[in-house]
Amino acid sequence: MKISQRLEKIASMVQSRYDHIWDCCCDHGLLGAKLLDNNSADTVHFVDVVPELMQQVSTKLERFYPSPIGGAKRWQVHCIDVAQLPLANKEQTQLVIIAGVGGELLVELVQAILARNPQHTLEFILCPVHHIFEVRKALATLQLGLIDEHLMEENQRFYEVLHVSTQSQLPIALVGEQMWDITRSIDLRYLQKTLDHYQRIQVGLLQKPNQDEDKNIEITQIINAYKALQPQNCNNTR
Ligand SMILES: C[S@@+](CC[C@H](N)C(=O)[O-])C[C@H]1O[C@@H](n2cnc3c(N)ncnc32)[C@H](O)[C@@H]1O
Repeated sequence: MKISQRLEKIASMVQSRYDHIWDCCCDHGLLGAKLLDNNSADTVHFVDVVPELMQQVSTKLERFYPSPIGGAKRWQVHCIDVAQLPLANKEQTQLVIIAGVGGELLVELVQAILARNPQHTLEFILCPVHHIFEVRKALATLQLGLIDEHLMEENQRFYEVLHVSTQSQLPIALVGEQMWDITRSIDLRYLQKTLDHYQRIQVGLLQKPNQDEDKNIEITQIINAYKALQPQNCNNTR
């Protein structure tokens, strides 16, 4: 089955086998299907809030991934809000994937899952469509630690994919760390685009009659953090 490079990248970051993988906000279910093909979990859960979509996903799964006679079903479909995710018990290994939604919603969903399951050991793979700085900041506040991070580009859009967990002690850097290889063209273009974005916000803020000092300081800090990654300021020789 043909899936996007972004979903391929996410699937390639699933390197262990889990008891359960939750493909949240799954829409068409293509990522979960790829994870079934890869045999990445005992059970792959397809979760989305739109009933018609989930009906279509169920029909396709019944057809292409039928349960073996006498064997356990390898997938489940849940038409629910991801905030209400019915996780398995805490002894089971579980990976929650949320991709293709805005950063604000993604953070709300991660917060809700953690709040409902405070004793669980969980891993997340997260790929928001916007607001990655705010996502990183929120994940660090939620005391999640980094496992892995990647930068990728598809259809002229850049995506950061974060693999984080409740167990990792590695801090989540606000502008990313491991993912950068500043010798690559993609990194240079993404860095410049991100800097341009925040510099435009800074100009807008400075033109406002009533200055929000805290916001000005925050934006300046973000810009400085990204500027520190520029080749002339960076010892990154990977
Ligand atoms: C653009 S699709 C993303 C599909 C896929 N994850 C990807 O990355 O290509 C976003 C999906 O999120 C679903 N969604 C949005 N909010 C949700 C929520 N709170 N709970 C469950 N699904 C949600 C929408 O119904 C939609 O199908």
